[in-house]
Amino acid sequence: MSQIETVILKPDTNGIAEAALVFWRGGLVAFPTETVYGLGADARNDVAVAKIYAAKGRPSFNPLIVHLADVAAVHNYCEISDVAQRLAAAFWPGAMTLVLPLLQDAGISKLVTAGLDTLAVRVPDHVVAQNLLAEFGGPVAAPSANPSGRISPTTAAHVIAGLSGKIDAIVDGGTCGVGVESTIVDCSGPVPCILRAGGIPTEALEACLGMALATPSDPTTPTSPGQLLSHYAPQGSVRLNARHFDAHETGLGFGAVDAQLNLSPSGDLVEAAANLFAMLHRLDAMGATAIAVSPIPDHGLGRAINDRLKRAAAPRD
Ligand code: TXA
Ligand code: MG
Repeated sequence: MSQIETVILKPDTNGIAEAALVFWRGGLVAFPTETVYGLGADARNDVAVAKIYAAKGRPSFNPLIVHLADVAAVHNYCEISDVAQRLAAAFWPGAMTLVLPLLQDAGISKLVTAGLDTLAVRVPDHVVAQNLLAEFGGPVAAPSANPSGRISPTTAAHVIAGLSGKIDAIVDGGTCGVGVESTIVDCSGPVPCILRAGGIPTEALEACLGMALATPSDPTTPTSPGQLLSHYAPQGSVRLNARHFDAHETGLGFGAVDAQLNLSPSGDLVEAAANLFAMLHRLDAMGATAIAVSPIPDHGLGRAINDRLKRAAAPRD
């Protein structure tokens, strides 16, 4: 792919207007959301969406999440069941993606859904994302703004490191507050089911619906098409549930442990989620060849963190 100049835009009125123009022209803009930076394109434009796959080096069977400004806009593209409506009312805007039946003639590029008859949609809760979606006025397909298989970006600098020269622009909106991707709930069938643990804890969704939700029992089974096992990979090897760190290892701690980096010295899962990807990026920058990670409790945001860490530790091709 030939290199293009990547413009860094401010998150102000001019920057947002410029970014919306890039979408109208069929270009790619990386922008901040509360979870991670997304790499956006007009979801109705086949060529623009194809550029996302090319920039990320992403296998094309992997469908994308469409970002919309508000719940009203979702009705233009999807059928929304009662259960989906309850979740939408409780958690949108926010770190939740719903997989819903796609309306016929919704005008979404088939490259976005990878030919599925469902669509993953999200209304993000970040002022820059909201302003950009409102200014553009259309659906924005956006995977995380990292090269395929690499760590998701939580700062503009991470995006630049991975994709500079391959995308038209980045809106620099600082650090993402949540730090792990959205929770994906499949509401296209009779029983809702969690496809990916993420920024909204499973417990919160279950409390909202008053029922237990099915979750993927085996992390080696990709339930969402994009849940490839080896993913989020730093350069070094990753050892999980480490109760001590060997001399050759770089420690990624959690709680009161002595480690080179610590996700949350006080053992706070929200803080750990927000730090996770930035610290994996930092381990790369430090040249860590063997990474050992403290045990992380498997509840609340800990589930999303453990899911990402298992993928980071998985055998690689
Ligand atoms: O927080 C997030 O969700 C971020 C920000 C940018 O919104 N986006 C993100 O996108 O994480 P991405 O492309 O890295 O992950 C999207 C996931 C993939 O695992 C994909 O397989 C799944 O969503 N997905 C998309 N459409 C789907 C569908 N129709 N059915 C099932 N899974 C779907
Ligand atoms: Mg991703």
